[in-house]
Amino acid sequence: MISEKMEKALNEQIAMEGAAMHKYLAMALWCDSEGLDGSAEFFYEQSDEERTHMMKFVHYVQDQDARAIVPTLQQPQGEYESIYDVVQKAYEGEQAVTASIHNLVDLAEKDNDRQTWTFLQWFVTEQLEEEVQMRKLLDKMKLIGVGSRALYYIDKEFATIRPEEEAE
Ligand code: FEO
Repeated sequence: MISEKMEKALNEQIAMEGAAMHKYLAMALWCDSEGLDGSAEFFYEQSDEERTHMMKFVHYVQDQDARAIVPTLQQPQGEYESIYDVVQKAYEGEQAVTASIHNLVDLAEKDNDRQTWTFLQWFVTEQLEEEVQMRKLLDKMKLIGVGSRALYYIDKEFATIRPEEEAE
């Protein structure tokens, strides 16, 4: 059994993962509209991955005989200044998710909740990978520079960094 506080916190995480799913879909659509096919594909896959994360939390809460809540999702930002702006915002979003996961781990420790603590370890590792991935993209973009020719190479770069397939 998880505590009521933990149930509430896990449901907030479900909402956060759902919001990330929506945000990445909006980013994919923006890239698609800009002709950045490689970037669009990356963010479509990233959106799918966030749904997987959301569902991991949903199933975990239900398995604990608690109730997962389907989150209300707000319309995400649809317009961006540039692909650099998109990735910078994606990076900041991942940092926020990491902080939230770490808060959940802290709560699990306070609750002496070993099952939730163990469940969360996958996400601790995953968040490090997600942050590294976004930071690498930002670093590559800085190296490649700006301009339409640079955009072509940046878009190709996205094809080399793909979210890993995950089992639910
Ligand atoms: Fe599920 Fe990218 O955080």
